[in-house]
Amino acid sequence: MTARSIAVLLSGSGSNLQAVLDAQASGELAGRVALVISDRADAYGLQRALGYGIPCAFVPLPAAPPAERAAARAAWERRLLSVLNAFSYDLVLLSGFMRVLSAEFLASCRAPVINQHPALLPDPADAAAGRDYVPTSAGARVPALRGAHVVAEALRRGLGATGCTVHYVTPEVDNGPVLARAEVPIVPGDTEASLHERIKIAERRMIVEVLARLA
Ligand code: GRF
Repeated sequence: MTARSIAVLLSGSGSNLQAVLDAQASGELAGRVALVISDRADAYGLQRALGYGIPCAFVPLPAAPPAERAAARAAWERRLLSVLNAFSYDLVLLSGFMRVLSAEFLASCRAPVINQHPALLPDPADAAAGRDYVPTSAGARVPALRGAHVVAEALRRGLGATGCTVHYVTPEVDNGPVLARAEVPIVPGDTEASLHERIKIAERRMIVEVLARLA
């Protein structure tokens, strides 16, 4: 697989996108960001992309009463796909995109989808074999943390280390084949914000490496 045209989906600040754009500008990365889509109009990542002249789209998921939520979500995913497919892309990067994409979306998407996750995740085969943890450099086992609040959870569980992972997205949330992972120590006095910022420093480096490898 080559990843020369990358579609980025994000919901927030986009500091990882910034690292990718910087690497693209310096020639470190052969691939290029072809478009950026957000489900949030106020995502700062959109402003970063616009600053580079990259096409951007805001595709909101409309609120719906419970009985209509599934249909609204399916319609939103179809809109997302039609926006994506108006461009040429060979990789979709979820970079702080705070929505789960359905199996139907993943099956219809023209390109592989990868995700940045701010915790250590094992390979799916290890998880399935009961090894749902990642060994650390200190010989400890860090349990796989999945979902949207994993930085806080790492602190709440009193772990000595956490980290970040880039993995392929499959219908099983936060459990796809791993492309790269990096360990980040948890230090005394860490808050969710300080720990997440340190994780993001590792993530920015790692996503550029992964994209360079795929390109
Ligand atoms: C990263 O920690 C990523 O792992 C998570 O969302 C964060 C995005 O950060 N899914 P930013 O918007 O790139 O600063």
